[in-house]
Amino acid sequence: MNDARKRAGITALGAYAPPKIVTNADLEAIMDTSDEWITTRTGIRRRHVAADDEFTSDLAFRSVEDLLRRHGDHALNGVDMVIVATNTPDALFPATAALVQERFKLRAGAFDLLAACPGWIYALGTAKAFVESGQCNKVLAIGAEALTKVVDWEDRSTAVLFGDGAGAALVEGVPEPYGIKSMVLGADGSGAHLLHMRAIGRCLPNGAELGKHMTMNGREVFKFAVRVMDTATVQAVAEAGLVPDDISLFVPHQANLRIIDAARERLRLPPERVVVTVDEYGNNSTASIPLALAHALDGGRIAPGDNLLIVSFGGGLTWAASVLTWGPWAEARRA
Ligand code: UT7
Repeated sequence: MNDARKRAGITALGAYAPPKIVTNADLEAIMDTSDEWITTRTGIRRRHVAADDEFTSDLAFRSVEDLLRRHGDHALNGVDMVIVATNTPDALFPATAALVQERFKLRAGAFDLLAACPGWIYALGTAKAFVESGQCNKVLAIGAEALTKVVDWEDRSTAVLFGDGAGAALVEGVPEPYGIKSMVLGADGSGAHLLHMRAIGRCLPNGAELGKHMTMNGREVFKFAVRVMDTATVQAVAEAGLVPDDISLFVPHQANLRIIDAARERLRLPPERVVVTVDEYGNNSTASIPLALAHALDGGRIAPGDNLLIVSFGGGLTWAASVLTWGPWAEARRA
């Protein structure tokens, strides 16, 4: 039985981006866009794209394999819950998480979680609640997306933005002073029509096409993002009992460099305290923060005791932010 008094924290991390790269120049060749427009409006230079026969479950498996490479084969011992946060599951059911459970032969419950781009932070929050209540000992929280399979390649306003990838974290009880110190989770469904992909119901505007492509009002989502990145980060830092200057590293959702810069400026953090990977990966939704964390780990930018601030926003509309104090497992870089 888990010690319910222990705070939950991330004890292991893995990430994966498919090797196939599509550059802005590649996009110039197939649609009416330009490298100049994409880089100045978004900061994106390339995105990693899943192979035709590679789906969200495959990307999730790869991120867990990366976690095992970093932390050893025993790392999954004792996992009793698998959560996959995704907007692009292999199927409406079964849950992609059940495919992960089977692939790694875990004696665990498994379910998918849908909260758009902040889904991975929502999964961390769910894992934290499971662990701190004593319901679970060790939760595998994954964010995985094969978004390039649902973007409309005829719509330049969305096609240039997205990429594919996955990240996986283990969440379990950790000693003081480490662990997840605050968790802000929010939603405002009045903005549902601003970013969506229709499945079965009729909650979306007339004309929303069934289940084929995502649709976005970029300008409105941009305004919402700048607003909520500000309020959610301020709240997460305060609820952790900290001030912005205590934040060692800011790891925001990687959607648009202009949104990241606006949030960083509001927090008055210098550029060296912010992780930016949007140039390399584009926006891969639930995978973006774990991939950015892995990138920072591999670059030696995270040390034990560091306070990390993560924040995300997306369709729903939803948002999430959290402060976590990283533990001594920071050294687990990619072999
Ligand atoms: O995870 C959450 C997901 N969503 C987001 O993060 C999206 C947030 N929004 C954004 O990042 C930005 O709004 C975009 C990058 C999507 C768009 O940037 P913008 O500065 O808001 O541009 P805009 O939508 O106002 O469009 C400006 C112009 C338009 O032309 P006109 O009407 O001014 O002649 C667009 O047609 O840019 C045009 N445009 C493009 N031009 C070249 C739109 N997409 C492209 C493109 N290449 N790919």
